[in-house]
Amino acid sequence: MKDCNETVDCSGRREFLVKAAFMTGGLVLTLSGVSSAFGKREGDLTINIDAASPLNKVGGSVVVDSPAGKIIILRTGDATFLAFSAKCTHRGGIVAYNAAKKHFVCPKHGSEFDAASGQVANGPAKKPLAEYNASGSSSSVTVKVGT
Ligand code: FES
Repeated sequence: MKDCNETVDCSGRREFLVKAAFMTGGLVLTLSGVSSAFGKREGDLTINIDAASPLNKVGGSVVVDSPAGKIIILRTGDATFLAFSAKCTHRGGIVAYNAAKKHFVCPKHGSEFDAASGQVANGPAKKPLAEYNASGSSSSVTVKVGT
């Protein structure tokens, strides 16, 4: 039988793996916390909203270039926004917002995506639009597209 003291490590493989998992998880949580603490990340997109911007009113939308490709941003309230990839998942057409339908519509072959979720409402597209976290105020919106 092993005598556990300061010179003999009695840690088993399982204990080592559990400790490693906690340390790794802690590191991930720590990095996540650092990222959140700094808020804006490299590559995030901030758009100022002036009187001429389509985002100056609820229901307004714009398509903008970003490090992640074209993104469509929709203003849903005084300080609430939604953001999705503007690239249609069928064959890459750039969608536009249709306020009457509350859908993003692709001009190429007519696919439609629910504006609240990005889910396919009408094909031929089969996959939803990728969503990005968007937050802002009455005067600006930031879309998290950084890594
Ligand atoms: S590219 Fe959008 S429906 Fe075909």
